[in-house]
Amino acid sequence: MLDPRALAVGRATLMQTFVEAIRAALASETELAPEEVRLERPRDPELGDLAFPCFALAKRLRAAPPAIAADLAPRLDGRLEGIAAVATGPFLNFKVDRAVLAAEVLGEIQAQGERYGGSQEGDGRTVLIEYSSPNIAKPMHVGHLRSTIIGAAIQRLHDLLGYRTVSINHIGDWGSQFGKLVVAIRHWGEGVDLEADPIRALLALYVRFHEEAETRPELEEEARAAFRELESGEQGEVRATWRRVTELSLREFQKTYDRLGVGFDHIRGEAYYEPMLDATVARAAEAGITEESEGALIVALEGVAKDMAPCLLRKSDGTTLYATRDLAAAFLRWEENAFERSLYVVGNEQTLHFRQLKGVLQRMGLDWQERMEHVGFGLMRLPEGKMQARKGRVVFLEDVLDRAVQEAARIIAEKNPDLAGAEAVAEAVGVGAVVFNDLKRDRVKDVDFAWEEVVCFEGDTGPYLQYTHARMASILRKAAERGEGGAEPELAALADAGHILVQLGRFPEVVRASAAHAEPSEIATHLLALAREVNRWYVDHRVLGQEPPLTAARLVLIRSCKCVLLNGLRLLGVSAPEEM
Ligand code: ARG
Repeated sequence: MLDPRALAVGRATLMQTFVEAIRAALASETELAPEEVRLERPRDPELGDLAFPCFALAKRLRAAPPAIAADLAPRLDGRLEGIAAVATGPFLNFKVDRAVLAAEVLGEIQAQGERYGGSQEGDGRTVLIEYSSPNIAKPMHVGHLRSTIIGAAIQRLHDLLGYRTVSINHIGDWGSQFGKLVVAIRHWGEGVDLEADPIRALLALYVRFHEEAETRPELEEEARAAFRELESGEQGEVRATWRRVTELSLREFQKTYDRLGVGFDHIRGEAYYEPMLDATVARAAEAGITEESEGALIVALEGVAKDMAPCLLRKSDGTTLYATRDLAAAFLRWEENAFERSLYVVGNEQTLHFRQLKGVLQRMGLDWQERMEHVGFGLMRLPEGKMQARKGRVVFLEDVLDRAVQEAARIIAEKNPDLAGAEAVAEAVGVGAVVFNDLKRDRVKDVDFAWEEVVCFEGDTGPYLQYTHARMASILRKAAERGEGGAEPELAALADAGHILVQLGRFPEVVRASAAHAEPSEIATHLLALAREVNRWYVDHRVLGQEPPLTAARLVLIRSCKCVLLNGLRLLGVSAPEEM
């Protein structure tokens, strides 16, 4: 079914041109206003491209829906150029003439190229997107991979729609775990090579701290003291160690970002907000919403939602918390950018935290908090088991990518041993496989990572789409070599590619809905459906060597499919090699 919100806002997209024409015509034949005309996608696509359920008129006209449909059909049929109207039971189905559809859709794609799917509906308005946000004392694991991949896709979606996007990496570089790490480095850091493989070395130290602290509880106190010193702003050994660890970790993270093709407008860790924390707490206190509770400063939230736990802004020992820093960040972000949306791409397990954060702002009477959205996502479970950093049980993101690339290289060596630039293709396919595997499902769902499924050239995988794309590239190359495709294309001959044309024409609508819902899986699903249609179509349609106008038309179709596939994959952050 069409998303009514998607139809109500912004400029017309391609299919929407038809939608609007149908609505206007229906409005003139009934007593409905055009915006009251709700169109659906017929359950069976053979019946038509759009359907009007006549139930909406039954009461008003005191007639049965099938009778209404039968009455309206002849009045509308033929009235809209290139759109037929047919009654099927209680539905009035509309079908766009395939030649008209082909001319409209393919013409638009050829004209817009890599911009196809986009629009200017954002009109330069700002969308903030916070994503990735790994923790420095702990390794960046596949859990953060999800945030990075999903967040980057959401940013690209908004970019294509003409928004001004600002991405922020809210690195976890502050908090009591740094006390632990500083103490671990102080006691056991000598002789540990932090430069060569910083993340692994830091993890080992972190794990050792937890092991030793089991029998030596005084280590916990030492760690707390170290964190207090860090928060005091004193420029001593603790601060120096913290700085070094932060720099080393960031350097490592950067390698992963490069591989994923992800960049940030701002890398601002929690520590960045440290100088603003006193003022942040004071602002909440001045708003009259804070109370003391056992020496701590809290904001009660049961008025915001029943049973919501209070938000802690300062502990009894004077140190601040994760939430305090998020509150400071929210203030600053709003001051710097009067954003239309501010998205936090963070795992589902932090849902309560973000509800509390918004609750505090709501209690302060700041209604821009309504523009803040927690874009949650499920856990990623690896066959190796649930991850637990303090026990050292983590699967490194780097390893996941490496293994996928190796697997891709193996398949390529088997299927296409003479491929030029095989190494780069294997990297694109391996990384693309991991990225797509993440983005193809509703983000809130947990992911059970299964190696066999990820790097497979068939089924619902990234490599399947890449392969479909490469196959089109190959047809286009061959056409050029053979000098085919120069004739005037006979677009009417594409009547039997109707499903493909509809999928292509819907792409802008899907981009818009996917951005609105912050749900890249909508793009992924659409691309899979398109690829399946095209691959099915090949079975009984040859492109090259036909009558020249037919070959030319089919080549336009292939070029357009390739373009949409490429645009979609680019939005998801999956690269599409020309050959594989
Ligand atoms: N560093 C946190 C973690 O890994 C995520 C940060 C989320 N962002 C925020 N503004 N709190 O759990």
